[in-house]
Amino acid sequence: MQSILRSVGGYVIRSCEEKDLPFVININMITLPEHYSDYFFSSILAELPEAFIVAEIKNQIVGYIMCKIEFGFSNFRKLGFVKKGHVVSVAVLEEHQGKGVGTALMLEGINGVIIKKTDEIYLEVRVSNESAVQLYKKLGFIIKSRLKSYYRDGEDAFLMAKDLS
Ligand SMILES: CC(C)(COP(=O)(O)OP(=O)(O)OC[C@H]1O[C@@H](n2cnc3c(N)ncnc32)[C@H](O)[C@@H]1OP(=O)(O)O)[C@@H](O)C(=O)NCCC(=O)NCCS
Repeated sequence: MQSILRSVGGYVIRSCEEKDLPFVININMITLPEHYSDYFFSSILAELPEAFIVAEIKNQIVGYIMCKIEFGFSNFRKLGFVKKGHVVSVAVLEEHQGKGVGTALMLEGINGVIIKKTDEIYLEVRVSNESAVQLYKKLGFIIKSRLKSYYRDGEDAFLMAKDLS
């Protein structure tokens, strides 16, 4: 049974299912330069289905977010070792952008990692990706550091994090 989490405009925001993965992979191919194996998408879905969310309209998947849980040093507390959510990838098809879908996906992704009792959530974003940086700031993420040549093409990333505790 499909688990509908919220709706925004005419878009349904719901949990991802295995059958959605080919559409998610296609959106990733079209919208982002960072691609992954089919196995990677399946394993993320198996590991953290609570934070693998899709947006759908008229039976078409138009956006997704997928996250992981990790343990590591805190982005907020000195010497702290914490449980962290990591936004691995989020994207909305271009023709559906600017309608609140990205915000809704992020909010449900964050909820999905909060359920797992995480202390914080973080992500990497290209320094040139102004709309994404704006979205994350709007949701309370803070730029914590700049990762030199993080991407294969040499572009830097901002590491952005949000305290959930
Ligand atoms: C980033 C992305 C997921 C946002 O999705 P979206 O559905 O367009 O997001 P929303 O409509 O909810 O807009 C969210 C916020 O993003 C910011 N934003 C969106 N478009 C923007 C633009 N053209 N310029 C500046 N800010 C913009 C705004 O802060 C907006 O909030 P507001 O509407 O309250 O002002 C989407 O642009 C996308 O898929 N981009 C390509 C893939 C990508 O870059 N993913 C992120 C990788 S880290």
